[in-house]
Amino acid sequence: MEQTQNDNKKIVLSGIRSTGNLHLGNYYGALSKFVRMQDDYDCRFFIADLHALTTHPDPRTLHENVKDILAEYLAAGLDPEKNIIYVQSDVPEISEMYLLMNMHVGIGELMRTASFKDKARKALGINSDSDDIEKDIIGNQTNQRVNAGLLTYPTLMACDILIHKADFVPVGKDQEQHLELTRRFASRFNNFYKTDYFGKPVNFNFGGDAVKVPGLDGSGKMGKSEGNCIYLIDDEKTLRKKVMRAVTDEGPKTPGQPVSQPVENLFTLMDLVSGKETTDQYRAAYADCSIRYGDMKKQLAEDILKVTLPIRERILDIRSNEEYLSKVVRRGAEQARAYAADTLRDVREIMGIRRI
Ligand code: TRP
Repeated sequence: MEQTQNDNKKIVLSGIRSTGNLHLGNYYGALSKFVRMQDDYDCRFFIADLHALTTHPDPRTLHENVKDILAEYLAAGLDPEKNIIYVQSDVPEISEMYLLMNMHVGIGELMRTASFKDKARKALGINSDSDDIEKDIIGNQTNQRVNAGLLTYPTLMACDILIHKADFVPVGKDQEQHLELTRRFASRFNNFYKTDYFGKPVNFNFGGDAVKVPGLDGSGKMGKSEGNCIYLIDDEKTLRKKVMRAVTDEGPKTPGQPVSQPVENLFTLMDLVSGKETTDQYRAAYADCSIRYGDMKKQLAEDILKVTLPIRERILDIRSNEEYLSKVVRRGAEQARAYAADTLRDVREIMGIRRI
């Protein structure tokens, strides 16, 4: 199998689940970081289609989605000559390692993971923040929406990372707990087998904090399931409409009034796409009560379009070339499998799984 040159660069690994088109949250939380890292690190980026199965996508939709995200990766500037770009399910070594690693993962720690509790609550239709969902889950044991794949999501993610012996994992803030678990599983494995085989992969943020990109609905982060997203593939009209409809408030009444969450969210988005200088002007206008949200939204839409429209053009172009897409991931899978096979062989050996 083909082994790409490493040149002793640090290894970077990251992926995005194929559950819909990529939005600005994916872009600023992950993708734009991937693009900035590709020249200086040994980067491997993948599409997490096995992880997408945890929420039961329609099979045909899932397959199309993998191609969409691949096109979006490439359109955003990921260069297949500089990175290994692959689809998770094309590397079966990951699935085998997931089985092996699950032997060292406790169901208690998995049940306490925030993302699992969130998804389990949603699947069971429980709104409360009660920490006592274990009982509900056990009582609902025939509900396949709270499936074992969802529970062991962090094991699979840990294997994605550890199978490459990655040093850095550029991800958004919402993934930090999963990274923490990855480090925990790695050091548990090391301790159990008295080895120093796995390292301690960490997030990567170019010196700043992990970004949390807010949605347009005035509440929390931008997320597919929240319905508050700006997609890279949105056309101009759709995008303008979304931004103009973003939730705000009645406007400041007294100078120096604290900024409400929905408006703060727009400032945060503006910081990302327009830069701090522009945001500061609007913050000043807010402080002296002269701000007009309509104007601010127009500016915001304009600056988002400057980022997304060129990417959209490229997505449409690349997505129509299925032969190219297929070529990219075939080569990527071959490269990724070369590394994955080495790690899996070592892990099997360490655990005592050997051919007779
Ligand atoms: N859990 C990540 C997300 O939802 C996707 C993912 C799966 C991932 N495996 C990974 C990210 C390994 C980084 C590294 O966005």
